[in-house]
Amino acid sequence: FPLDSLNTFRIPARARRYLRVDEPGQVAAALADPALAALPRLVLGGGSNLLFTRDFDGLVLHMALAGRAVIGEEHGHTLVRAAAGENWHDFVQWTLAQGLGGLENLSLIPGTVGAAPIQNIGAYGAEIKDVFHALTLFDPDSGAQRVLRGIDCRFGYRDSIFKHADGARLIVLDVTFALPTAWQPNLRYAELAQALAGVDAPTARQVSDAVIAIRRRKLPDPAVIGNAGSFFKNPVVAGEQCARLLESFPNLVHHRQPDGSEKLAAGWLIDQCGWKGRNLGAAGVYPQQALVLVNNGGASGADVVALARAIQRDVYERYGVQLEPEPVFI
Ligand code: EPU
Repeated sequence: FPLDSLNTFRIPARARRYLRVDEPGQVAAALADPALAALPRLVLGGGSNLLFTRDFDGLVLHMALAGRAVIGEEHGHTLVRAAAGENWHDFVQWTLAQGLGGLENLSLIPGTVGAAPIQNIGAYGAEIKDVFHALTLFDPDSGAQRVLRGIDCRFGYRDSIFKHADGARLIVLDVTFALPTAWQPNLRYAELAQALAGVDAPTARQVSDAVIAIRRRKLPDPAVIGNAGSFFKNPVVAGEQCARLLESFPNLVHHRQPDGSEKLAAGWLIDQCGWKGRNLGAAGVYPQQALVLVNNGGASGADVVALARAIQRDVYERYGVQLEPEPVFI
């Protein structure tokens, strides 16, 4: 089954078996078949955080579960639930149309609701862990559904239980968010604050529009040019290593973390190494944002990997910092 149109990098790849999941019961039904249950599994949402480096010799479960609703009020929050297959950005826009703020900083992030908790999507000073309430999952080992609360998801920077051995097999069916009734704009991110400097008391709708404008300016639209967003995580280094680097590179972009470590801007490191806008074969570095690798047309997974390795090598040689890829490699 061809996966070319199911990954936003638009890398040609095939799966041995493919199942589109429109009803939650279909997952249990499929896995009740021993032949299907024995195959390696890939749970696919919007395919916007994946890099295929080969065909997938297993079963792709394409989560297309639909539905979204306001389900109640709790401790000054409105609870909203969306099924795993809902498009993330459409869901954010729907919450705004209901008059509910809280997700606006995460506007225009590609992918689905079900994929959002996997890497704890974040942008412009917010992460979903800030507004997460609970999720429903299917556990293939017990054959039953379970509910996980935020604390059980072990959210971190682009991280959660689902990226680790004890959570990797779990299949997210729906996610519930708790949106504050007494909403306040979150303008911690300097560029966003700047964009709204002329507006007093911006509404959630205005914050969303500003985020959309910034993203359109800096990030390639996957519908136009194949990419998976940030290709590397921003590396976190010890405070001492950052201090040493600052002696040689006073312009180094760094953000102190609560534990004293420092998060560096991978985009800045890559840019400084001269990679911004450069191509290697059919893969390239996006000219407006060095953190994003793109498929300029006809790139294979191997082309993207070769470019990523070259960038990692240069950044390591110059700064002694190891860049870690952000998308999942298949
Ligand atoms: N920078 C450069 N050159 C570049 C790109 C960035 O010098 O080519 C510098 C910028 O000037 C800035 C710093 O690096 O000082 C950080 O750049 P930016 O604010 O654009 O954000 P980022 O660190 O590159 C992260 C997320 C994005 C998210 C933005 C906004 C990661 C891996 N990436 O990017 O997330 O949208 O912050 O919050 O954390 C994604 O995960 O796919 C993604 C797009």
